Parts: sequence; C-alpha cells; structure tokens
Amino acid sequence: MKCVVENGGKWKADGRTLVMFGTSDPSLAAGSWPGMTKRDAEALLSLAREDGWAGKEEEVLVLRPQGGRPALRVALAGLGTAEDAGPDRVRRAAAAAVKRLRDYPVERLYMLLPASEGGNEERAAAIVEGALLASYRFDRHKSSVETKHPPLSDLRLVPTSEKAAAAARAGCARGRVLAEAISTTRDLVNEPAADKTPTRIAAEVRRLGRKDGLKVRVLRENDLRKLGMGSLLAVAQGSYEPPTFVTLQYDPPGKPRKRIALVGKGITFDSGGLCIKTADGMETMKCDMGGAATIFGVMRALPKLKPAVSVLACLPFAENMPGGRAVKPGDVFRAMNGKTIEMKNTDAEGRLVLADGLAYAVKAGVDEIVDVATLTGACVVALGPLVSGVFSNHQPLADRLLAAAREAGEYAWQLPLIKEYRELMKSTVADLKNSEKPHGGAIKAALFLQEFVGDVPWAHVDIAGPAYSDRELPLGRSGGTGHLVRTLLAFLEREGRK
Ligand code: BES
Ligand code: MN
Ligand code: ZN
Repeated sequence: MKCVVENGGKWKADGRTLVMFGTSDPSLAAGSWPGMTKRDAEALLSLAREDGWAGKEEEVLVLRPQGGRPALRVALAGLGTAEDAGPDRVRRAAAAAVKRLRDYPVERLYMLLPASEGGNEERAAAIVEGALLASYRFDRHKSSVETKHPPLSDLRLVPTSEKAAAAARAGCARGRVLAEAISTTRDLVNEPAADKTPTRIAAEVRRLGRKDGLKVRVLRENDLRKLGMGSLLAVAQGSYEPPTFVTLQYDPPGKPRKRIALVGKGITFDSGGLCIKTADGMETMKCDMGGAATIFGVMRALPKLKPAVSVLACLPFAENMPGGRAVKPGDVFRAMNGKTIEMKNTDAEGRLVLADGLAYAVKAGVDEIVDVATLTGACVVALGPLVSGVFSNHQPLADRLLAAAREAGEYAWQLPLIKEYRELMKSTVADLKNSEKPHGGAIKAALFLQEFVGDVPWAHVDIAGPAYSDRELPLGRSGGTGHLVRTLLAFLEREGRK
C-alpha cells in the first residue's frame, strides 16, 4: 500500500473520497478541516446527524454529497466522547471506515487530520496503522480473489498546516512500521502448517531477518543435541520434521540500556502428540507458533524504531505429532539447564520447548526475559478470547509490561504464581513433570516455566486466547491477530527511554 502525506495548504477535497473523524460531543465534532471551508464541514456534519450518525465509537456513515462537492464521498468515523478519543479509538475508527469503504470502488483514500494543538504524530500513526490493518488479507493460497472492486492501494493523510505535516509524516512512517510488524505475525500464523515446518519457517525467518539487518542463527537437530536441548528434542521426535532453533539479535545504534531476551513458543502444529487432541481441538492448531510469530514481528520493527535496548529472540520450532518414534507418557528426558522432566501429557508440549528456550536465554546472560506462548486452554477459560495472561517473578517487570499493554490498547491481565502449587509439578521419577490435574492449568504451566529462568527477572505472557480469532475483529479479519506485537514494541521503547 502506498502511503503519502499531502500538502494540506493547497489541497482540495472536491471530487475525492475521504474519511473524517468526529466525536459524539457535538460541540467538538466540527472543527477546522483541511481542503474545505468550515461551513462545508459543518454542513456535512449536520447532514450526518440528521441521518442518525452520533459519532459513537467505530460508528461509520457514508455520505454522497451532491455534485461531488465538497467531496465525492465522505466516510464519517466516530471516536466516541472527545475525552476518550485517544490513539486506540482513532486506530479503530480508521479501521472501521476502511472496512465500510470495501463496498465502494475506492483505490485512493484521503484521511483528514483534524486541526489540533499537539498529538498529530500519534494520531497520524494510529490512522495509518488502523487503515493498513483493516486492509490486511491473507490470500496467497487463493487462486482468485473475489472482490467487487480493485482494493484500496493508495492512502493519503491530509494535515491542516505545514507544521502538522511534519508530524504527520513521522506518524505515517511509524504507523506503517507497526502495521507491517503485525502483518508479518499474522502471515506466519495464517500459513498452513505444511508450509511452515520447523525447517521452512527457520529459513523464512532467516531470510527476512537478515534483510532487515538482524543477526540470525539457525540451529539444527545436531546442534540442539550438542547443546543438551533434550526437552525440545523430545517434543519433536514424533514428527518427520526435525526441530530447529532460531536466534535473532538486534543491537541499538548506541550503548544498550539493557539486554532483553524474548522467547517464543514455535509449535508449527499441535496435534497433541500421542495424547492426541479431538478434531475440534486441533482445527486451529497451526496457530501454536503464535508466540514465535509475535516475537518475530517485533524483531522486524526494531531496526526501524531503534529502541536503546539489545534484544535476543529465541525461537524453538517443532511439530507435535504422534508417530512410531513419538515421546510417550512416562518417558524422562533432560532439558538444557540439567533438570529432568517426566512426560505426563504429550499435549503439554509448549512448556517443554520453552524450557530449553528459556535455559538458552539464561545462559546468554541477559538482564530480563519475556516469553510469549499460546500455552494453555486454561488461560482462555480464565480470561476469554481477548485477554492475555501475564505471570512474573519480578513485579516491576510485570508492571512495566501491563503499562505497555495499556498504552498499546491491548488487554493483558496478571495472574498469580502460587508458590504452594510448585510442589504439584514435582515428579516421583524425575525432577519435574510436565502436567498435573487440570485445575489452575495456566498457573501450573507458568510455574513449570519458572523452573528454567533461575533468578533472572522474567515474565510469561499466555496468548492462547487472543493470538487467533475465529471471527472478524475491529482491526482485522478472522485468523492470526498479531496481538501483543504493539505491546511488546511499546515495552521495548519504554525500556530504551529509561
Ligand atoms: N497449544 C495448546 C494450548 C491452546 C489451546 C492454544 C487453545 C490455543 C488455543 C497447548 O499445547 C495445550 O494443548 N495445552 C493443554 C495442556 C494440558 C494438556 C495440560 C491444554 O490447555 O489443554
Ligand atoms: Mn498441546
Ligand atoms: Zn500447544
């Protein structure tokens, strides 16, 4: 998608399709809009009110002014009350407008930035991000794309002044970086498992990562054996596809404030293994590398956003399959940190690949670790499909992550690491077992992970609910959502500013 900032001074709205934003507070709905007189803008708004448009959140009305003046077509997008019309509302309003305009032949769309004192960069970023995410499609496996019109391909931001234009250009670039990061994550999650085996996804991550200027290493089965990653190897052994382990490194231009590791669950398909899932249960399990995909999306944005932290991504990839050589309940194996694990349930495989990922990050000597995983159905039961669960052994780190999620407009909620439950994860034949009775499953999984981080400040984010959606959401279609990419980027940028 092309994405340009117009010269607001000379620009005319006549004959164009545009998006205008308005709040539900009538006194603030009209303002000074680029490209049209205040009278024309007010006339449009009062027409919209007559048609029942109230400026509520994500409420969109399409108007066709007479004779193409002051515009050919206007999509009025509601922001709700002026008080709450922050970047999150703007992002959703822009997305709602773009979705509604899918019904019209619009290839070039002008989005008007209302005149305002400050916040132009933030608002422009939110508009561009919302518009791009709403036009995201995953159609590379379709032999023809059934659309009524050619899709939107040219987005123009229209500021009111030259001063606002500079901020709009910066915001436009930033919105684009965020939308591209999220789209990368969505693409990887949406890809069929057959096309993203551990070998193939590692090659794709290496190709794109190197193109972006990241340092990338791909470890293969033999390397994993040498490193002692018996836990990752155990999960992978039932599949024809060998596991891989990808590391990516981002270094900031100056001296890093901190070294942070991001560890992502990369199960390219979760059949459950010998403890096989039901057909319903595995229908969407190509999404089980969502944690790794989230982190890779984040990594791709870092060379452009340049936060002052160094980031090491650790992505263990494996396919969890039943097979003649599959790991069996009762088997015991040793993880990279030396701890032995008894397999109780082969469907609790995420924590096993993360165990080696976390141990690797600890050995690399980082200051903080955040892992991201579609880890437990229990977390979905607890928090539903829109909220990720946050666990941490270090409250200040949890607080910083939760604050970043609020800034990013994504839902995250802290759940406790109950120390009394730790006993329950001990095995009678090994140091640990990978599964226990179902109650409190999200907490027990997190407690299992904690055994592999030592005393490094660590947070675990369970994205089993929000990583994948079976229905359309405000910022996109069904499928991979890219949830948490914006939160992690906000988190890393905040860490770099401290
Ligand atoms: N990948 C699943 C968790 C999951 C469930 C992700 C639904 C996304 C949507 C994970 O590997 C799993 O199977 N967890 C089991 C653990 C149990 C066997 C202890 C679960 O949650 O049922
Ligand atoms: Mn599983
Ligand atoms: Zn899984």
